[in-house]
Amino acid sequence: MYIIVTGGIGYIGSHTVYELYKSGYEPIIIDNLINSSLKSKENLKKLIKSDFGKDILYYDIDLCNEAQLLELAKRYANKIEGIIHFAALKNVGESNLHPFKFYNNNLKSLLNILQFAKEVNCPNFIFSSSATVYPHSSPNPIQETSEENKAVASASNSTKHNTIITGPSPYGTTKIMAEQILHDLAKADSFWNIIILRYFNPAGYHKSGLLGEEIINYTIQQNLFPTILINKKYNKSLTIFGDDYNTPDGTAIRDYIHIEDLAYAHIKALEYSQKNKKLEVFNIGVGKGYSVKEIIQGFIHKGFSIQYTVVGRREGDAEEVYADSTKAINILEWKPMFTLDHMIKSTIDYYDKQTYESVDL
Ligand code: NAD
Ligand code: WQD
Repeated sequence: MYIIVTGGIGYIGSHTVYELYKSGYEPIIIDNLINSSLKSKENLKKLIKSDFGKDILYYDIDLCNEAQLLELAKRYANKIEGIIHFAALKNVGESNLHPFKFYNNNLKSLLNILQFAKEVNCPNFIFSSSATVYPHSSPNPIQETSEENKAVASASNSTKHNTIITGPSPYGTTKIMAEQILHDLAKADSFWNIIILRYFNPAGYHKSGLLGEEIINYTIQQNLFPTILINKKYNKSLTIFGDDYNTPDGTAIRDYIHIEDLAYAHIKALEYSQKNKKLEVFNIGVGKGYSVKEIIQGFIHKGFSIQYTVVGRREGDAEEVYADSTKAINILEWKPMFTLDHMIKSTIDYYDKQTYESVDL
């Protein structure tokens, strides 16, 4: 029996593939490398071979290609015990510029992989959602119930003219819409065992330095940790987006979670989905927030100097976001093991092992 991992060459997917092998599973990766590279694939292949003596199983398929996916389904009918659906475009800034591309990719790929799940008769489905589904008004620590209320409110408003579900960005709206699709499916059809994981802010890298985050387009704003590395490499100053928030040092607060803890949550979710007979949503965060300046100080304390300048707030940014992950701790029996110190250390180690291509920033 196999586990399908869509987007398994990407940042979270590749770390989860590693955890799957470590836990004795046989993952099958589907990824068209739209936001990763042959180099990432080769690195993953090398690591899995050296640590587990296995060759990765990989299909270069665009999940939007229904025909190709259904062809694959014939080969694996009744041989799949779980599907982890990571594949999506994720850059918020790019989604504001190219909303069609995001709705097309993220929703079409979801519908196709759900159809694939039916074809191979695999009800166990884990979906990568995000803290971005929560409205900024959600009280911290954020509980899973915050957004469900909003989704119901939006749906019941739909009788009014021109009422739409408003997400924080087209990317964020694809996650809200995807969750809605999954809710409707689970409600209508007892076939499904669906787990929605809402990740907070993944950070850090596997100790090998072989699994990473591909920056395909350096001109688009990235997440904080990869931006710190890119700026360091090109000797540029980090831009802090706002120091006038109502937080102790004025910079925004997020719940950073070590990538290996996040990857392991998928193993626990997979175990749980095999005995769960409905849909469940879980926050996956540490439950503690750190400010942008605290992150920078963490790097500086480890001898990794960072120059920075403060500019105005980034549009759409929340002041403070951190998770209540009690539900995952109690029901999935998952617990984060790594600290911010580990995240920063593994990021510096990763940086030291990289050769970045020369680009103009
Ligand atoms: P990533 O871009 O590193 O990985 C996604 C992978 O999916 C890439 O390898 C890409 O090539 C592949 N992919 C995308 N569309 C595809 C398609 N149509 N067909 C086949 N492959 C396709 O992203 P990530 O950071 O690993 O994120 C994984 C998931 O987690 C995404 O769904 C993302 O929205 C979600 N998420 C990420 C974060 C974060 O901060 N990284 C936070 C919350 C949620
Ligand atoms: C963290 C903090 C920035 C870069 C985004 C997506 C969200 C989710 C996670 C996928 C914020 C500040 C950042 C920089 C900065 N992804 N920052 N200078 O904003 O919590 O969420 O990633 O689902 O959808 O919106 O994460 O890493 O971009 O930013 O000051 O150059 O760092 O303002 O306060 P965020 P982030």
